[in-house]
Amino acid sequence: MSPTPQPNVSAVTTRDFVAMKQAKKKIVAVTAYDALLGRLVDEAGVDCVLVGDSLNQVLCGEPSTLSATLEQMIYHARAVRRGVQRALLVVDMPFLSYQVTREDALRSCGRVMKETGAQAVKLEGGTAIAETVHALVEIGIPVMGHVGLTPQSVHALGGYRVQGRDEEAARRMASDVAALERAGCFSVVLELVPATVAAAISAECAIPTIGIGAGVGCDGQVLVLHDLLGLNDGFSPKFLKRYAAMADDVRGAVGRFADEVRRGVFPDADHSF
Ligand code: KIV
Repeated sequence: MSPTPQPNVSAVTTRDFVAMKQAKKKIVAVTAYDALLGRLVDEAGVDCVLVGDSLNQVLCGEPSTLSATLEQMIYHARAVRRGVQRALLVVDMPFLSYQVTREDALRSCGRVMKETGAQAVKLEGGTAIAETVHALVEIGIPVMGHVGLTPQSVHALGGYRVQGRDEEAARRMASDVAALERAGCFSVVLELVPATVAAAISAECAIPTIGIGAGVGCDGQVLVLHDLLGLNDGFSPKFLKRYAAMADDVRGAVGRFADEVRRGVFPDADHSF
């Protein structure tokens, strides 16, 4: 009898995240939305692959993450799961899948865990969702928090702007992170937060902070893969560093292919049967 195929299970666990903070080892996270890039970033040795709801903008060209659906997140997370062997796999919960009722949250997050093989979900919000986080953790679903600029609240926040600039807002953010930690989050994303505020929060909490536009004082960093690869060359926020210029590579390669097809140079004898 052939053995039952085992689902992929990543080597890195949520417990490792907390241990990495204690050992002062920086956590490296990137997004991926498909199996191929999931495999490549895993082979590059990242600690965490996030199936971000940013896929709604990056892949689908939507103006925000708001219209991302649970079905969409599950579809992409299943694909990424097939490529990722080592890194912790975390899936973003889309807008309205966890905010309306506790039952919705348990059911939606439970579906993601059951149907994708992810090891954790990520929810946006602080004190307001702490009880939901607690309920999820109680039934065995690890939760990564997300505070600061929470893209699902972009309209309430008045745009994609840095959060926690004044003392009161910074204090509120710190208390949101403390509430998430008490509720059982194993880590928290800090997005678009002044570096000094993010460093202070990171020093205060026991769970690791993963920054994006939040300075070097965080316990780890995350970037959207397509942005760091320079594929999304129309998007140039201050916090983004590009490690490749792949938009130019794509235009160049496809341009050369088109030229060779039009001139009858491709396929040549080496590429024909
Ligand atoms: O959706 C996403 O890609 C994210 C990261 C930017 C943290 O939430």
